[in-house]
Amino acid sequence: MTTTNAERLAGKVAVVTAAGQGIGRAVAERLKAEGAQVFATDLQADLLSDAEGMQTGQLDATDHAAVQAYFAGFERVDVLVHAVGYVHQGTIEDCSPEDWRRSMSITLDSAYNVLAAAVPKMRGAGGSIVTIASVAGSIKGLPKRVAYGAAKAGVIGLTKAVAADYVAEGLRCNAVCPGTVDTPSMRERVTELTEQFGSYEKAWEFFISRQPTGRLGTADDVAAAVAFLASDESLLFTGQTLQPDGGITI
Ligand SMILES: NC(=O)c1ccc[n+]([C@@H]2O[C@H](COP(=O)([O-])OP(=O)(O)OC[C@H]3O[C@@H](n4cnc5c(N)ncnc54)[C@H](O)[C@@H]3O)[C@@H](O)[C@H]2O)c1
Repeated sequence: MTTTNAERLAGKVAVVTAAGQGIGRAVAERLKAEGAQVFATDLQADLLSDAEGMQTGQLDATDHAAVQAYFAGFERVDVLVHAVGYVHQGTIEDCSPEDWRRSMSITLDSAYNVLAAAVPKMRGAGGSIVTIASVAGSIKGLPKRVAYGAAKAGVIGLTKAVAADYVAEGLRCNAVCPGTVDTPSMRERVTELTEQFGSYEKAWEFFISRQPTGRLGTADDVAAAVAFLASDESLLFTGQTLQPDGGITI
């Protein structure tokens, strides 16, 4: 059972991207449960129709102008969680220029857009940025993750550079790097591999076998790590990668 501290984020204004489902939604719910005023955004506004107790908005994080316009509406942002990402499954031989560009656009360019718009609203008052990266990339090379790994390595590099630029004024920036997490898009990837593995169950077993703990992560596992980094309990953490990865990187 998950326990939350209902006061830990009281008074904080939090913006979450990709909050429509999966990890982003679990993060938005967790930040709300811990007392933050949550602004939940997603490309697909309809996915947010059942989000209660938070302000919701449609936002395409790959659209630089739209992201600038969205953050212009804020006087102050205390917590930013950027969860947008896209997994292309394939080796470098499987990765077309279009696959590569799509990966960079959704995973890395979006992080640039969102952090560039949010940082001016977060300066001077402390605050915490959390990017959702992955163990795949600069932490570990995983098979068939060439574009994804490269883009997520970029997200970690961006995270560390922003941390370095603003550390003196108390604005923190950390990356949460999950292993395999049971989310709607992860299930789509299992379906895509069904033919290769012979059945959905065998493809599912493949993903579990990558986790030494023998189970997939849950979106709530990841949200717990994000809430810690968003809170003042993690004031000594900046420029770090925190890895709820089920032992992948032992
Ligand atoms: N699921 C995993 O196993 C896993 C592991 C490591 C890291 N991650 C990362 O966690 C993040 C969330 O993954 P997930 O599996 O929970 O998500 P998901 O793919 O199930 O959901 C992604 C959400 O992002 C939204 N989205 C897509 N493009 C967008 C855009 N341009 N602008 C705004 N929103 C957009 C979608 O509408 C959707 O609601 C991603 O960055 C992903 O790379 C996931």
